[in-house]
Amino acid sequence: MMKNSDKVNICMVGTGYVGLVSGTCLAEIGHRVVCVDSDEKKINLLKKGIMPIYEEGLKALVHKNVKKKKLFFAKSIKEGLHHKGHRAEAVFIAVGTPPRPDGSADLSAIEKVAEEVSINMSDYTVIIEKSTVPVETCHRIEKTMTRFNKKHIPFDVTSNPEFLREGSAVSDFLNPDRVVAGVPSKQAEFLFKKIYKPMMKHSQVIITDVKSAELIKHASNSFLATKISFINAVANVCEKTGANIDDVAKGMGSDKRIGASFLNAGIGFGGFCFPKDLEAFYWLSSQKGYDFKLLKNVQDINEDQKMWIVKKIEDELWNLKGKTVALLGLAFKPNTDDMRFAPSIDIVKALKKLGAKIKAYDPISMSNAKEVIKGIEYTKNPYQCVKNADCVCLITEWDEFKKLDFKKVLTLVKHPILIDGRNLYNAAKMRKMGFTYKSLGRP
Ligand code: UDX
Repeated sequence: MMKNSDKVNICMVGTGYVGLVSGTCLAEIGHRVVCVDSDEKKINLLKKGIMPIYEEGLKALVHKNVKKKKLFFAKSIKEGLHHKGHRAEAVFIAVGTPPRPDGSADLSAIEKVAEEVSINMSDYTVIIEKSTVPVETCHRIEKTMTRFNKKHIPFDVTSNPEFLREGSAVSDFLNPDRVVAGVPSKQAEFLFKKIYKPMMKHSQVIITDVKSAELIKHASNSFLATKISFINAVANVCEKTGANIDDVAKGMGSDKRIGASFLNAGIGFGGFCFPKDLEAFYWLSSQKGYDFKLLKNVQDINEDQKMWIVKKIEDELWNLKGKTVALLGLAFKPNTDDMRFAPSIDIVKALKKLGAKIKAYDPISMSNAKEVIKGIEYTKNPYQCVKNADCVCLITEWDEFKKLDFKKVLTLVKHPILIDGRNLYNAAKMRKMGFTYKSLGRP
């Protein structure tokens, strides 16, 4: 049990993936958290216990902490800052920073939050910026707040980039490899350590200056994206030379300096972080006068990767006009309903252009998919999806697809052609069963 003196009153602004998960987990480790969102509909749903996103374990944790009166929801920053007589000492900013057409991040939501916090705070407050933002955003928040801070109330702006992944967000937040804190003062550092104290037993806290913390997030995500594009490029070379990417990745990944994770070749990365962060990091570097060409290459390889599967389908079926392609999975990765920047969006677009008829099934993301992918047939289960298909493609490596009854699949498809966009299945086994099986960089 946390001592009362260790409890911090927190206001979490933004209830997207990062905000809702972080706010809930901060309540779980003992703090009093009020989650605020300007989207009234979302707050009304949350007050009724309905989650606006799917994330494993989140719903139960929200219900538990609401019941324990540690987690609350409010519609305005003013209410969040002074909730039922509790003044928020820390205000986390976790609002959206969508990309603009030129690749830069749209930071207007952050500016609005800075303004409102400044107008409504009543004593020393630490603002903790959690959204992924370009370097110097904290400095801009500070400038904005100073402008609106007519009563000259002391405050600090800090950076605390979040590294949680969708699909494992709750456990990532509660068991991070590291917590990064960019702080401008000892007072802010003290509060920071108080907030994260329950996690400091098993995770290291890295204290830096504010700009370095901001850059750590950009650099980390871009590096991981680079690792994926690198292994995808190697997989293409494997394909051309007859080497096996599984063995190559294993051989590379067992070197501790390289590490085994993020070496799974496939149809490329998607999601709201990697594509957007890469673009924003490139834009930021260019603005500062450095042409970070490597990041452009990483993006280009990723775009080509999505089309790899389209070329494979064409190789097998020749003309796609009127032919039926079944897509197993639509989300950008398993265990999430998130369709933002999912490779499936571009793959469907390309297949439709070539005249293919598309059937699709995803265990969780179909209602979100229907918003962004129109003109395809959504099916109720994987077997309905593959029925009469000329070709079946694995797009997302959901557990459900690992356990498919392939004997049944063989009886349903028009032609037993299986293209594996995630190198999920055993090639020899699939071929033995009678599939024409294609995967990436595996002989
Ligand atoms: C990522 C970062 O991992 C996380 O630290 C940050 O906070 C947000 O961005 P997320 O986008 O949720 O998290 O998913 P992640 O598990 O990192 O996967 C991103 C994409 O890369 C997915 O499309 C996934 O399929 C792809 N990927 C990942 C690969 O293609 N190969 C791999 O080896 C790993």
